[in-house]
Amino acid sequence: MNSITLRTIDKSLLPQVLELDRICFDGLWTEEGYQREIDSPNSELIAITIDNHLIGYGCFWAIVDEAHITIIGIHPDYQRQGLGKLILLALLDRACQREMKHATLEVRISNRSAISLYEKFQFKVAGQRKKYYADTGEDALILWRGGLQTADSQNMLKEKWLEIRDRLTQQQRTLRDPDTLLTIEKTSLTNR
Ligand SMILES: CC(C)(COP(=O)(O)OP(=O)(O)OC[C@H]1O[C@@H](n2cnc3c(N)ncnc32)[C@H](O)[C@@H]1OP(=O)(O)O)[C@@H](O)C(=O)NCCC(=O)NCCS
Repeated sequence: MNSITLRTIDKSLLPQVLELDRICFDGLWTEEGYQREIDSPNSELIAITIDNHLIGYGCFWAIVDEAHITIIGIHPDYQRQGLGKLILLALLDRACQREMKHATLEVRISNRSAISLYEKFQFKVAGQRKKYYADTGEDALILWRGGLQTADSQNMLKEKWLEIRDRLTQQQRTLRDPDTLLTIEKTSLTNR
């Protein structure tokens, strides 16, 4: 079985993070920007690696009781395999652990795949920011997921975990979670 690892991003992953940022977002943040996130107690940066090779990552800022998701990117060679869902699940699980009550983010209005991913986790459109993206002048949709601490939300995360786990099993993959980023029930995980 192939194993994939969910882990917190630290300095050792920084060169790969910059490379994946370039591939997924055409260079969104600088090295200094990522270093600030790594150093900030209010930022959560999560990676998916295979054999120490970064294939996906995500980040949120904890602002009072709101998790502001700033980035989710999966390497194009690994997209459509359920890994975007895994990163989003891990971010929301960590947001719950940090006692966040809501999650929010901005997404390009044309980014159908990302919007569809967020809708599957019950994010709803809360507004629109006109000409938010300087490069294209495109609008951003503001998506919002309330009630993170409710039983309904916890059940939704468990259901998503079961879907993801089944998908990984079909792909003959196991998941390692050495930093214990997922707290939802995870019967087939190893914490080594
Ligand atoms: C958006 C992104 C993170 C999705 O990652 P992924 O690993 O492909 O996502 P998953 O395989 O977990 O798919 C999750 C859901 O997203 C949606 N989705 C993903 N790719 C899609 C596509 N090409 N077309 C339509 N829907 C898509 C589907 O709803 C999918 O659910 P399903 O598998 O049940 O149909 C990935 O496409 C990406 O990194 N894009 C570039 C960076 C980006 O735009 N990030 C979001 C910025 S807000």
